[in-house]
Amino acid sequence: MRDLFEAEEGLALPIVPGAVLLRGFASDRAPKLLEALEGVLAASPWRHMITPGGFRMSVAMTNCGPLGWVSDRTGYRYDAIDPGNGKPWPAMPQAFRELAGAAASAAGFDKFKPDACLVNRYEPGARLSLHQDRDEHDYGHPIVSVSLGLPAVFLFGGPQRVDKSMRLPLVHGDVVVWGGPARLHHHGILPLKDGDHPSTGRCRINLTFRKAG
Ligand code: SIN
Ligand code: FE2
Repeated sequence: MRDLFEAEEGLALPIVPGAVLLRGFASDRAPKLLEALEGVLAASPWRHMITPGGFRMSVAMTNCGPLGWVSDRTGYRYDAIDPGNGKPWPAMPQAFRELAGAAASAAGFDKFKPDACLVNRYEPGARLSLHQDRDEHDYGHPIVSVSLGLPAVFLFGGPQRVDKSMRLPLVHGDVVVWGGPARLHHHGILPLKDGDHPSTGRCRINLTFRKAG
């Protein structure tokens, strides 16, 4: 079949031109990723950020790498400093960087060097409404998004907010990469269903890698 091809570690499923779902790409490395995440959390723990409109986000977040995505009453931005402790975000673990580079390559985006990793934690009921990732300087770089733990439904739409969106079920170890013509497509996560996962317990964790600066 022309629209299914074997990637290095599993199936690569095209979503739209520029966007691909790498099924199970991170499965083998998940234990190492989750172990490295513990170190990140020890320095910069989970927090619920406030949107510019004054709402507390249902998704808990933290960051690692030179830049971290933050939201507060003044807006969204990337910042080198964790506003929670006034210190630089913890370093991006090598296991994170390697996985992000390998996934980007498998999706056809060579030499991806992320400088920001946003870590999202969804507990049952948490959701992320349809949005574009547009706080980065250069849209020439792709986004690499790694799913760990409980399954979730990923919405993947088009360049306009009103464009119809696809519903893609994502499970532990799945990686979605989008860039090129799909770089500014809307996306989001439906409210997480309750469950218990052997790797993460009662939550889904998502690592989103970007070249932001
Ligand atoms: C995001 O859009 O930043 C995260 C998407 C996800 O959790 O899969
Ligand atoms: Fe996003």
